Amino acid sequence: MKDYSKNTNLSTNDSKSSTDQSIAWFRASTRYINSHRGCTFVIAIDGEVFYSPYFQDLIADLLLLKSIGVRLILVHGARSQILETYNHGAIEVPNDENMTITRKDEIDAISGVVGTLSAKIDAMFLSGRTDRSDGIRLIRGNFLVAKPLGVKKGIDFQQTGKVRHVEVDLLHDQLDSGCLLLQSNIGYSVTGELFNLCEIEIATEIAISLKAEKMIVMTRRNGVTDAQGNLIAHLSPNESVHHMSRMKGSENEEERFFGKQIECSARAVESGVNRTHMISHASNGTLIRELFTPEGCGTLISKDDSKKLRKGRISDAAEILNLIRPLEESGLLINRSKEFIESEINNFRVIDVEGEIVACAALHLETETTAEVSCIATSDQYRNKGLGKKLLSSLESQAKKLGVTQIFVLTTGAAHWFIENEFTETSLDSLPKSRQLIYDTARKSKIFIKNI
Ligand SMILES: CC(C)(COP(=O)(O)OP(=O)(O)OC[C@H]1O[C@@H](n2cnc3c(N)ncnc32)[C@H](O)[C@@H]1OP(=O)(O)O)[C@@H](O)C(=O)NCCC(=O)NCCS
Repeated sequence: MKDYSKNTNLSTNDSKSSTDQSIAWFRASTRYINSHRGCTFVIAIDGEVFYSPYFQDLIADLLLLKSIGVRLILVHGARSQILETYNHGAIEVPNDENMTITRKDEIDAISGVVGTLSAKIDAMFLSGRTDRSDGIRLIRGNFLVAKPLGVKKGIDFQQTGKVRHVEVDLLHDQLDSGCLLLQSNIGYSVTGELFNLCEIEIATEIAISLKAEKMIVMTRRNGVTDAQGNLIAHLSPNESVHHMSRMKGSENEEERFFGKQIECSARAVESGVNRTHMISHASNGTLIRELFTPEGCGTLISKDDSKKLRKGRISDAAEILNLIRPLEESGLLINRSKEFIESEINNFRVIDVEGEIVACAALHLETETTAEVSCIATSDQYRNKGLGKKLLSSLESQAKKLGVTQIFVLTTGAAHWFIENEFTETSLDSLPKSRQLIYDTARKSKIFIKNI
């Protein structure tokens, strides 16, 4: 007979540990709440989102962002719905434009399709609002002036348009009054003509014009992947070029469009938007995971120089602890308390990506001429980008300034990394006596030194 009492205990423990995790996560989210408050986020969603079973949850998450004081502009597209209904394949479209031709005789009907989708979002906000965030108003509007894409390579794109300018003052007025704004992919020209635009281009122009802190691009994909299909957590605009070209050169229409989304995301960052996030709308809670957890869940595009190497500060202690805790649990690093990190904080160097500590290392003076490199760690999603090396060379310069001629390190899991960084394995008796005395024999750490 099955032991149900044991199972019950297990599930009680499981639910306690999941509650504990939620509490820990909620506490840790304070810094994200503070850093997002008052910021402007432009969110681009393609027409595919309307088929996602999590669309209503996404709306709830947008309301949550609004509740914590984020200034939100949502730009939706209707590409899938338009392609389903209208046959654009009749005219050959050059790949590098990756734009479809919107015929003059179709634009009224297309604008009707788009209007229905906008109304659907409006209704979803209304139903999401009543139980969660009463008082938040969604304003649907035209916050841009469009112009025709024109004739390219001998092809007249007719009612396919692009952004002529963004109504920045109007957007600011509406955002200042606390509204959440919805822009569709239909725009009007100064002559009153309707144009079908691409939502990612609209979102990019709005994000650049408003100097938004973030642009968030939501698609069916989890983010940018390498040629083997592994998700890439972080890209600089330069690194994006390769992935953009790979996608834009594809035979597949959806991949080519994704290439365009990467291109726009990188352009936004190059033009002053701090960060672009490419995440999926096909899974539940991606927006929350990307914005409120250190690991995120998609691809972040930001400039390399957003990674600042600086001295540790007392206020970094909790984050350093978050970064190294999993490595302590796996035995790669020794356990350090928050108090210990605070007391040693002046010896720490950290890499800060817009307020988030993504790598750290410490230098501890052992004798006048010898120092120990310790606690060197890079968070998973920022590995293999040279951050470890950058920290190490900063510690080396610091050590030289202090008159140190030899640095050493004790490691269980990164021996080869130190060898590649010109350390040589040595024995315990070559360490200063004071360090030999506190060597933990149970850990069996390997010892490496480097003359500097
Ligand atoms: C060691 C560590 C700090 C390197 O961080 P990083 O920012 O990825 O370092 P870099 O980008 O400068 O170097 C990456 C290169 O080192 C290699 N590398 C990373 N960790 C390695 C390891 N443990 N052993 C051998 N090589 C390693 C990577 O494969 C990469 O090589 P490539 O450029 O040829 O692809 C990081 O892997 C880490 O946090 N490890 C766990 C903590 C730890 O063991 N710390 C040392 C104890 S003091």
